[in-house]
Amino acid sequence: MSNQNIFDNETFFNGYKELRAKDICLNDLLEQPAMAEMLPDLTGKTVLDLGCGCGKNCIDFVQHGACKVIGLDISEKMLEVAQKEATHENIEYIRMSMTEISKLNVKFDLVYSSLALHYIKDFGALMTDICNLLNVNGTLLFSQEHPIITATIDESNAHFNYDENGQRVSYTFSDYNRAGKREKNWFVDGVIKYHRPMGQLLTEIISSGLTLKEIVEPTPKPWAIEKLPTIVKEYIKPNFLIVKAVKE
Ligand SMILES: C[S@@+](CC[C@H](N)C(=O)[O-])C[C@H]1O[C@@H](n2cnc3c(N)ncnc32)[C@H](O)[C@@H]1O
Repeated sequence: MSNQNIFDNETFFNGYKELRAKDICLNDLLEQPAMAEMLPDLTGKTVLDLGCGCGKNCIDFVQHGACKVIGLDISEKMLEVAQKEATHENIEYIRMSMTEISKLNVKFDLVYSSLALHYIKDFGALMTDICNLLNVNGTLLFSQEHPIITATIDESNAHFNYDENGQRVSYTFSDYNRAGKREKNWFVDGVIKYHRPMGQLLTEIISSGLTLKEIVEPTPKPWAIEKLPTIVKEYIKPNFLIVKAVKE
């Protein structure tokens, strides 16, 4: 597999698991609630979850009435957890890179992906593969790191700016219009992600034949601000981008 499989790195995997186990994490306070609001009706539907990780969302789809869910991930360690903690007769886990999904010969009503597509180099090719795998009227719903987050090459050029009272007032970032590979430190050095400016990203979705329906840069609800007051910084710099598109 030519794609990086960083989640099977022991240090990375342990760091990531610890982060997601925390009571208070941005995924649970912001990204997951926003994704949940955008889910189509899943009664009797088939779902493909790209980069399903530990399978939490796969279980959720079944609870929302999905009759068949395929959870696909490149990481053996993540799938090991999924197979232990998120099993159901309607769920099948497959170890495969999502860059190879053209080999699947089934169609889906929903292709879903939470925070995995920024690991993919050829986004346009993936969008075409997804469009081919969707039934007519099928939905693509994905979240990824916001392009403002992925943009900056030298991370010392990405930072909040504070006023004299120590309050965040703005955010500095760079390299927004330099699309391409980024190597970041996240638990370990050399984590590879891909930056795409918003225009490129949305155009590649449209070029695949999908119709854009909703683009969301989630902001925190009052209950989330109560749990984590510093989350108001999302009004200065969004962490997530969520896109919903349909095959018409
Ligand atoms: C940040 S985790 C998100 C996991 C899960 N979707 C969730 O929200 O809990 C990203 C996942 O994408 C997977 N991934 C990264 N590159 C992949 C690829 N090329 N094909 C399939 N999965 C991939 C990783 O192994 C990891 O499980």
